Formats: sequence, C-alpha cells, structure tokens
Amino acid sequence: MPTVLITGANRGLGLEFCRQYLESGWNVLACCRSPTAAIDLQELDPAQGQLSIHALDVSDFNAVDALAASLRGTAIDILLNNAGVYGDTRDRPFGRLDYARWAEVLRINTLAPVKLAEALLPNLKAGQRKLVIAVSSLMGSIADNGSGGSPLYRSSKSALNAAMKSLSIDLKVPGIGVLILHPGWVRTDMGGREAPTLPAESVAGMRRIIDGYTPAQSGRFLDFRGRELPW
Ligand SMILES: NC(=O)c1ccc[n+]([C@@H]2O[C@H](COP(=O)([O-])OP(=O)(O)OC[C@H]3O[C@@H](n4cnc5c(N)ncnc54)[C@H](OP(=O)(O)O)[C@@H]3O)[C@@H](O)[C@H]2O)c1
Repeated sequence: MPTVLITGANRGLGLEFCRQYLESGWNVLACCRSPTAAIDLQELDPAQGQLSIHALDVSDFNAVDALAASLRGTAIDILLNNAGVYGDTRDRPFGRLDYARWAEVLRINTLAPVKLAEALLPNLKAGQRKLVIAVSSLMGSIADNGSGGSPLYRSSKSALNAAMKSLSIDLKVPGIGVLILHPGWVRTDMGGREAPTLPAESVAGMRRIIDGYTPAQSGRFLDFRGRELPW
C-alpha cells in the first residue's frame, strides 16, 4: 500500500486527509505538534496498524531533520504539506503590524514545506507516486487580490506558490511532481463556521486531483474542484 506523510494532521483538513487516506487503505505518517493530545487522530486507526503518529512542529528544522533520519529507508509516495497558520489579527492591521509574527508565519507556511521536501527527498525518490503537495490558498494569488488585508497570510502563500513552482522545475529530473492546491473556503478552525465547504468535500476533491496527477500537471495551481487559479 502507498504511504503519505501529512503535516498538521491532528485537526481540520489534515485530520480529514488522514481519515480518507486510511479509509482507502494507505499507510499514513501523521505529523502533529502534540501526539498525546491528538485524540481524534489516535482514534482513526486503533487496530489496523496503517497509522503512525510523529511529533513535529514544522517550524523546528532540527526536528524535521530528526524526523527524516528516523524515516531513513522508508519510501514515501506523497508528502502532503498541510500545516499552516493564518497569522493576521484584527488588532494588528497595517500601521501596527507584528513583524515577529510575520517571520513566524513565513517560516511555518513557506519555509517549512520546502524544508520538508528537502529533508524527505530520498524517501520521495524511493516512493512510487513521487509527489509533493502544497496546501496553499487562493489568498496567495496576487492576481485575485481585490480586497487587500491579511498581508502576513497572503504573502506567505504567494511565496509558497513561487517556491513550489520552482521546485516543480528543479525536481523534474528525479521525476518528482509538485501540485499547489487551494482547498476552497472550508469549515475548520481557520476557515470558521460560515465557510460553505465541509472538510470531507474539500479533501475528497483534492484527493481526486492527486489521484489523477500526471507529470504534465506539475507546478500547477488548482482549486479542490480542479480549476486552474491565477497566480
Ligand atoms: N480552512 C480554509 O478555509 C482554508 C482555505 C485556504 C487554505 N487553507 C489551508 O489549509 C491548510 C489547513 O488548514 P485548516 O483549515 O485545516 O486549519 P486549522 O483547522 O487551523 O488547522 C491547522 C493545522 O496546522 C497545524 N499547525 C499550525 N502550526 C504548526 C506548526 N508550527 N507545526 C505543525 N503543525 C502546525 C495545526 O496544529 P495545532 O493543532 O498544533 O495548532 C493544525 O493541525 C493550511 O495550510 C491553510 O492555510 C485553509
């Protein structure tokens, strides 16, 4: 059975990705900051043995290297970079921006997915599907930005898109593909209660795109329905 490594696996879209991949019989390497507190995640697979849970704060690059070392020799078919933070708050708009927070948001949303791809490259090369997924956001689209605001989040996802587009070119020779996906506006802690799309629908849509991936699609920026998005 194929193997997927998922970051931010304890709640929201990450938890739903775990649920659906486990249901399809995949091996899931689920990464989260606090495995002991990740009760919903632990309950997904009490007996089947397809799930292993790993402690990982993606902003701790020593921890990323340690995880990669502990997984040496394990083939990974898909690296699913899902963990992310919003960062912007109403009390810190332009005029009172929190630059220390901005640097943290960039580290989590932009640098960490690239660091994980670097650290796990040997594992991906050993996998069959050879795919890096970046869960990005339409809010990272500069062309689509008609409403302004959220500079921390927007810039982190725009930069993620730029970095992942480059990776899609740089990793052509080892045959590793990259997809940049927008999950839609989804009802999670980040998306809030008003969001129209449920995690199950969003994740099912993204998985459909991932399942149907062909190398010609590497580097594309798509929403969960498969629509091409503007940069
Ligand atoms: N929901 C939406 O409408 C929407 C729209 C566009 C894009 N997205 C993107 O979709 C992805 C998942 O979002 P979501 O809606 O599921 O958000 P969520 O419900 O807020 O969950 C975020 C996940 O990321 C984890 N995380 C945050 N910082 C981390 C760190 N430093 N190290 C490891 N894990 C960390 C959280 O872990 P803790 O529990 O430890 O905090 C949690 O598991 C994000 O990349 C987000 O930007 C979401």
